[in-house]
Amino acid sequence: MGLKLVVVGGGSSYTPEIIEGVIQRHDSFPVSEIVLVDIEDGKEKLEVIGNLALRMIEKSGKPIKLSWTVDRKKALEHADFVSTQIRVGGLDARAKDERIPLSHGFIGQETNGAGGIMKAFRTIPVLMELAADVHAICPNAWIINFTNPAGIVTEALLKHSAHKKVVGVCNIPFNMRYSTAEILNVSPDDVRIEFVGMNHFVFGKKVYVQGIDRTTEVLKTLQGDGLDYSPANIVNLGWSKTFIESTGLLPNPYHQYYFQTRDVLEKDIQSFNEHGTRAEQVQELEKSLFELYGDPELQDKPKELEERGGAFYSDVACSLMDSIYNNKEDVQTVNTTNNGSIPDLPVDAAIEVNSVITGHGPEPIAPGPLPSSVKGVVYQMKAFEELVIQAAVTGDYNDAYKAFVMNPLIADEKKSKILLDELLEAHRAFLPQFYS
Ligand code: G6P
Ligand code: MN
Repeated sequence: MGLKLVVVGGGSSYTPEIIEGVIQRHDSFPVSEIVLVDIEDGKEKLEVIGNLALRMIEKSGKPIKLSWTVDRKKALEHADFVSTQIRVGGLDARAKDERIPLSHGFIGQETNGAGGIMKAFRTIPVLMELAADVHAICPNAWIINFTNPAGIVTEALLKHSAHKKVVGVCNIPFNMRYSTAEILNVSPDDVRIEFVGMNHFVFGKKVYVQGIDRTTEVLKTLQGDGLDYSPANIVNLGWSKTFIESTGLLPNPYHQYYFQTRDVLEKDIQSFNEHGTRAEQVQELEKSLFELYGDPELQDKPKELEERGGAFYSDVACSLMDSIYNNKEDVQTVNTTNNGSIPDLPVDAAIEVNSVITGHGPEPIAPGPLPSSVKGVVYQMKAFEELVIQAAVTGDYNDAYKAFVMNPLIADEKKSKILLDELLEAHRAFLPQFYS
């Protein structure tokens, strides 16, 4: 039997990405069946995406059977890979995650601060259920998790689910490598960035081009407006020479929330007043994307998809699946169990790190101890992530409060409660663990 891929959240506007990725790699990664799965509420979108995917496959001439369904259990039968790209509560829930903290003077962002915590609370129980189904129905399948907050969600599954074949992915390390290659005018395949940290909190320690250390050169370009590897959803405010020189590290765009909090907040409030939240902008974007997708003449992934922050994610997902399937033993940046490769962090933590991708999964290449300049903050963030997972699993109010108050973007004992209460109420329908 051929290879079967199940895309959970198949009605997402991002799905043409993964279809394109599978088509492009078909010679080495011969998927013979794709099933797009979604929930009842997402049926209409699923239908539009399913038909576009069919046209893309037909144009490619590849022998891939594609179908779509809301029957997840049935879809999982005989699956080899299960990719997850769900958004519990949809973009309306994301808008609340962004809007409510902003209205209290805090960063309102889908994977950082209060918004990120709430997204984890809504998502973890749903993915735990999916992982249980995978374990029962297709125990050999790999779960490739894109669902945000990807690092936290991956750690929750690795710790609490019986299914251990789980890898988390994100396009940020990929973007950093590609933009760096562009600046240095070399091929991205020749660039290796040594990453250390966690998802959306990862630092680049060293940049090598064909084995030659070019870190200093790259750090220089980061100090001006030369190197911008921000995805479409984050404004690049640039980094000061002093920050870059003193730490000697490549920050990722999400670090702006932590090291330029006031400036980002000011910008975000301004942008909110002018265009609403990012979720609302994405809703508009989705409307026009789905109009395009519905055109029976369209047979390709449209360029407009690049306006989404997660553009090119399929390259990451498909390269990973290709390497697992072929036991390629190449190096990719993924979220996987630490297992001592960053000795300062817990052994069972999920970290974002370069790994050798084998048939039995990623083997992290130890980046060694955390750089002293960021050791404290990385440690704090990881401890905070543990609190989020704990609360998501127990549904205990005090656990949730601890996650809020210990998050460096909140860190206010009274306002933590105000924020938490308002957000819990706003998302009540998607938080059964807190209301039973
Ligand atoms: C980046 C992140 C993704 C995130 C996306 C948001 O690419 O790595 O994890 O989902 O941005 O983009 P959006 O277009 O939804 O704001
Ligand atoms: Mn990401």
